[in-house]
Amino acid sequence: MTTAILRPDADGVAQAARLLAAGEVVAIPTETVYGLAGDARNAAAVARIYEAKGRPDFNPLIVHVGDTSAAEAIAVFDDAARQVAQALWPGPLTLVLPLRPGAGIASLVTAGLDSVAVRVPAHPAARAILRAFGGPLAVPSANVSGRISPTTAAHVLDPDGGLDGRIAAVVDAGPCEVGLESTILGWRNGRATLLRPGGVPVDRIEALIGPVDRGTDLAAPDAPGQLTSHYAPRASLRLNAETPRPGETFIAFGPGDLTLSPGADLAEAAARLFDVLRQADRLDRPIAVAPIPDTGLGLAINDRLRRAAAPR
Ligand code: TXA
Ligand code: MG
Repeated sequence: MTTAILRPDADGVAQAARLLAAGEVVAIPTETVYGLAGDARNAAAVARIYEAKGRPDFNPLIVHVGDTSAAEAIAVFDDAARQVAQALWPGPLTLVLPLRPGAGIASLVTAGLDSVAVRVPAHPAARAILRAFGGPLAVPSANVSGRISPTTAAHVLDPDGGLDGRIAAVVDAGPCEVGLESTILGWRNGRATLLRPGGVPVDRIEALIGPVDRGTDLAAPDAPGQLTSHYAPRASLRLNAETPRPGETFIAFGPGDLTLSPGADLAEAAARLFDVLRQADRLDRPIAVAPIPDTGLGLAINDRLRRAAAPR
């Protein structure tokens, strides 16, 4: 299969929507990372997503919709969920909620769970595609399973381990603004629980609904996809490195040849993280990364770095 490269204009959006309606899978930009979209109501399309990504097991996927009322048609919201959705959607936040019976979502999307992950993305191209398609899309990150999430169309098509030739099309809208996956929030025994740190800092959620349990144990993952080693470059990774050792590629936070952010800005570091990891990985040497403050978006950055560094 030849993978078409589409522009995020009216023609490209219409063509992406047509392919999706025909049960094909299409990589689309979101504000977090590029995602691999397929019709969430069509089991064959969802199977194609898993197949293209080479997912070893059926991890549940996030359903992307255009607005909160479309989300409420799929998931059962309580007051707290509605409050968070109202304040932070569209945006880099995913809510795991009870699946609404009869919602029409293919069971492969939820991997048979009675909960469903939903998100309203903010990226204008993602929103235009959702509007033109007119239904819910299942959209995991558009990387081969176990590899770093793509933040450009070139990452999606990377001849070295990308999806070129495995998907119908990619809509190229340039680099993603946030650069990290969405924050995933769920409720366990009635308590709001952080299932994955991400693009929305957890303190913004706490300002709305009070304390959020952050006890996600990386070794005993709750979100089935939260494998410890997940965002993996090929090279080994050493964290909290003040200085490089001989032979190491050093990723700085602050001034440096290769840096997440010359001005030590966490939002910029998040946006550049996966691209810089890819650049470092191409040099084929062990990688050392400078310490990143564990506050705000730094929580999500450190989460991804720990996974990238985990033994595999
Ligand atoms: O920013 C994002 O969220 C990106 C863009 C494309 O939207 N998507 C993304 O999807 O990161 P993915 O499939 O790479 O990660 C989805 C995570 C997985 O860890 C999965 O296990 C978890 O969401 N998840 C999905 N449904 C769930 C559910 N019902 N219960 C618990 N975890 C769930
Ligand atoms: Mg992923």
